[in-house]
Amino acid sequence: MINTGLTSFRVNGSKEWGSLIALEGGKEIPFDIKRVYYIYDVEQTVRRGFHSHNDLEQMLVCVHGSVKILVKTPFAEEVVTLDSPDKGLYIGPMIWREMFDWENGAVLLVMASKHYDEKDYIRNYDQYAEQAKVYFESRCEK
Ligand code: TYD
Repeated sequence: MINTGLTSFRVNGSKEWGSLIALEGGKEIPFDIKRVYYIYDVEQTVRRGFHSHNDLEQMLVCVHGSVKILVKTPFAEEVVTLDSPDKGLYIGPMIWREMFDWENGAVLLVMASKHYDEKDYIRNYDQYAEQAKVYFESRCEK
């Protein structure tokens, strides 16, 4: 799906010492990291997200436990399971996302390309779908 995709990070590790993953802006993370936040202590049945961003790139990593992410446009949708710290889900602009099925004390770490700006959010799905159709059609990509 355009503007989103799952990636695997290189693990430095051994059975003896454990594992380490290093993520750098402009390298493993395809943008300069301006902000990091993490979501945790979420009840398994809670569904959150329900928004898109006009102009924000993010990389999501479930550093503990597991969580499912629905990524959606007016043309396609997909559910990605983040269940290992070596998996990253890139989400670019104009992708609707919902996070659900939080298991085993999931901790979801998010790296973002911009500082927090509520004005960049689209929180109404119908409004999102209208804008996203124009956005993706103007790129001739779905
Ligand atoms: P929100 O992005 O709506 O969470 P989710 O999409 O996971 O349901 O953010 C929840 C609250 O946290 C909201 O009041 C805004 C605040 N917040 C910040 O202050 N800074 C941030 O970087 C983020 C992501 C959220």
